[in-house]
Amino acid sequence: MRPSLRARLLSVLAVVPLVLTLATVPAPAAPRADSRADSRAGSADTLFPSLGHSGYDVRHYDVSLDYFPATNRLKARTRIRAVATTRLRSFALDLVGMRVRAVRVGGAAARWHRRGQQLVVVPRAPVRGRFTVVVEYAGVPRTYFDADGSKEGWVPTKDGAIALGEPVGTMTWIPSNNTPRDKARYTFRVTVPRGVQAVANGNLARRARHGARTTWTWQARDPMATYLAMVAVGRFKVYRSTARSITGRKVPVWTFADPRHDVPLSVRRALPRVMRFEERLFGPYPFTSTGMVVDDADVGYALETQTRPFYPFDVDSGTLVHEMAHQWYGDSVGFRDWHDIWLAEGFATYAEWLWGEAQGEEGPAERFDALYARPASAPLWRPAPTQFTGPQDLFGDPVYLRGAMTLQALRERIGDADFFAFLKTWARTHRHGTASTAQLVAVAERVSGEQLDALFADWLELDGRPAGY
Ligand code: ARG
Ligand code: ZN
Repeated sequence: MRPSLRARLLSVLAVVPLVLTLATVPAPAAPRADSRADSRAGSADTLFPSLGHSGYDVRHYDVSLDYFPATNRLKARTRIRAVATTRLRSFALDLVGMRVRAVRVGGAAARWHRRGQQLVVVPRAPVRGRFTVVVEYAGVPRTYFDADGSKEGWVPTKDGAIALGEPVGTMTWIPSNNTPRDKARYTFRVTVPRGVQAVANGNLARRARHGARTTWTWQARDPMATYLAMVAVGRFKVYRSTARSITGRKVPVWTFADPRHDVPLSVRRALPRVMRFEERLFGPYPFTSTGMVVDDADVGYALETQTRPFYPFDVDSGTLVHEMAHQWYGDSVGFRDWHDIWLAEGFATYAEWLWGEAQGEEGPAERFDALYARPASAPLWRPAPTQFTGPQDLFGDPVYLRGAMTLQALRERIGDADFFAFLKTWARTHRHGTASTAQLVAVAERVSGEQLDALFADWLELDGRPAGY
C-alpha cells in the first residue's frame, strides 16, 4: 500500500499475553523425556517465542469449514499431516477460541487440553516420523483487534467473513504450527449456502452442490506460511481469466470482488501487466494461480495472502504492485523469523519505487534522497529494521521505508548489473523456502564479489540514520 494508506498498527494480541523479548535464538530443543516439555518446545521465533513448535514439521493442512454466515458460526475439521523431528509424547498446536470437540492422532482418539493459545495433544503412544492429527472444532471464530481498531483473524463482513492472518490471526480458525518457519501445503474445503461464494488461496479444484449448500475446494500446492492463509465468504462478483507469464505459461486469474465496491477495470487490467513487469525484474511468477480478493472488511490494510492478495475497496495500482511483489518476496521466499519481516516489506516497497519510476514518477534514488533528508529524530531511524522489540513495530517506517532504502544503498554500492542479478538470484535461491537476513547478505556478497556485512549492519541493525550515504 501507499505509505499514507498503510496501517501502522499495534498488533498485540488481545487475548494472548506474549512475552516479548529479544532473546538470541536458543539452540534446537534436545529430545525430552516428559510430555509437558515436549509440548512446550517453542518455535524459537524471537518476536513470538510462545507461538509455533519446533518438534514437528507440518506438510499439509486439510481444512474443512462448514460456514453459516447468518450466525458467523463454523463447524470445522482440520486434518494435518506432519513429521515429528524427535520422538514426541505430546505436542501442541496453536488455536485460540473455538470449542474443540475431538482430536485423533493416527486415527485413534487422543487426549488434549487447552493451555493459553496452545492445544496440547497427548496421543496414546508417542509419535515419531510421519503422523496425522485430526481436530474437530466449532464455534464463532475470534477477531483480533489491534490498538488502533484494525483487525485480523476472522473478520465478519456484511455478507460473510474474511480470514486474514498477519502476524498471528490464522490460529483463530486453523489449529496450526503458527510460525512462518513451518511452511506447508493446504487444501481448503469451504461449505457455504448457495448464492454465496467461497474463495481461498491457490487453485479452484472443485465446486460441488449438496442441496442448499455448496462446497468450494481450493488447493494451495506450493508451501505457504500460516500467516498467508486466506478464506473469504460472501456475495462476490467472480472474474476468471488468464495472465500470460513471460515463460509462456498461462496463469489462471480468479478475482472475487464485493459488488458494492467493484474493482475498477483499470486495476483488473493492470494485474497481468504488473505480473510481467515484476517477472522481468524478479524472475518467473512463483505460483500456479493469481487474482485478487476485494472485500468490505474495513481493516485498513491490504495483505499479500499467497497467490491471491486481499485488498480493501480503495485498491490502486501502487497497492497492487506492492502485494504482487510479495508473491516473490515474503511469500515464495519467506522469512524464518518475524524480526526479518523487512525481507518482505523492504522488497515490496522497493518494487513500488521501481514501478513508480517506470510510470514517470520519482524513482528509487529520488525517494532515497528525500527519505534520507528526514531529521535524525524521525521515526524512520529508530528502531533499526531488524531491532524492534514488539509487534507494534512490525509495520512501521523502519521496516518498510528504511528496508527499501537498504536495497537502494546496496544498489549504489554494487552497481545496477549486480543489483538486478541479486534480486533474481535471491528469489531463485530460496524459492518456496524460508530465509534469514544472514542468508541475504551471503547471496549479495556472492553475486557481487564484495564484502557487504558492514553495509547491512549499518542499515539493518544500528539505531539512528546511517552515516555517509
Ligand atoms: N503486509 C501488509 C502489507 O504490507 C500489511 C499488513 C498489516 N497488518 C496488520 N495486522 N496491521 O500490505
Ligand atoms: Zn507489504
